[in-house]
Amino acid sequence: MRIKRIPIGRYLTENNLFFAPLAGFSDFAMREICLSYGAGLTFTEMVSCKGLLFRNANTEALLVRAPSETLPCVQIFGNDPEIMRRALESEALAPFPIADINFGCPMPKIYNNGEGSALLADLPLAGRIVSACVASGKTITCKIRIGLTEGNPVTADFAKVCEDSGASLITVHGRTRERIYAGEPDYREIEKAKKAVKIPVIANGGIFSEEDAERMMNETGADGVMLARGALEKPWLFSSLLKKPYSVDKKSLIYRHIDLLKGRYDDRTVAVSFRKQLCYYLKGEPGVTRFKEKIFRLTDTESLKEEIASFFDGDPGDEKGRTV
Ligand SMILES: Cc1cc2nc3c(=O)[nH]c(=O)nc-3n(C[C@H](O)[C@H](O)[C@H](O)COP(=O)(O)O)c2cc1C
Repeated sequence: MRIKRIPIGRYLTENNLFFAPLAGFSDFAMREICLSYGAGLTFTEMVSCKGLLFRNANTEALLVRAPSETLPCVQIFGNDPEIMRRALESEALAPFPIADINFGCPMPKIYNNGEGSALLADLPLAGRIVSACVASGKTITCKIRIGLTEGNPVTADFAKVCEDSGASLITVHGRTRERIYAGEPDYREIEKAKKAVKIPVIANGGIFSEEDAERMMNETGADGVMLARGALEKPWLFSSLLKKPYSVDKKSLIYRHIDLLKGRYDDRTVAVSFRKQLCYYLKGEPGVTRFKEKIFRLTDTESLKEEIASFFDGDPGDEKGRTV
């Protein structure tokens, strides 16, 4: 695929391969790993504007920055323009020159609150939100879905409202809320967004391989792609798309990830919270089901590392311990 830098307001990304905001996954450690494989831009997971204003400790914990992040981007959600503007002006968000507004979250507790994807049904309010966020002085990007229900797309209109209200870039997740994360992305709808606006459009949804990324770019004419679950499974996809030489020793990668987290959190927190990411790293490995049963009982990183070592190095005849 064609690699290029993307202008976002007055900033310029390293390249057009973005790592998605992913609640529970895109923390500083995962972002650091994606950056080390060449990701051009990364985002925090979505943080609540109300949580920020009330200085909620759990919310602030999501704002830890990755050491290699040169252009930090925070993703925010909310539905009150004034609260969102004030949150963006808060001290907690001072290190983030770019803020992405979540217009896609399908989860009931967000949607039923009129936030995330619920805003796809209220263009005037969405426009006021973008304008208020732009008034904070930050550079604003928007992440949208193509609509709420199948057959009722809002992509082009919504993208236009975002642009007219001052957004500097739009990422389109090519699925409706109804689809959650299932099925093929709708290339035609992403293409419509690209044709409707002049600001850069990044395409997202279902990219798990170089071929998927290539197809997404060719079909939609987008300026770049955003990898989500594909990067959780194979963060080295960034290098392979960049045609950068890479070699991945999964065991070393997993150890490195654990060590990054240990620099910040206590041992038990790391062991417990890392298990779900570990499942992504091990997807498709032989013997993983039995391994998962074992690791979900472990609560310290020493035992976790021992299990990982025996999983990869245990039996030389069973194809484990291999380099990708
Ligand atoms: C576990 C999980 C958490 C997610 N959290 C967020 C989030 O915080 N903000 C957001 O905009 N999208 C979030 N998403 C959506 C992803 O960013 C992405 O749009 C979606 O997974 C589609 O891309 P994919 O098919 O390549 O995974 C999340 C998705 C998953 C699976």
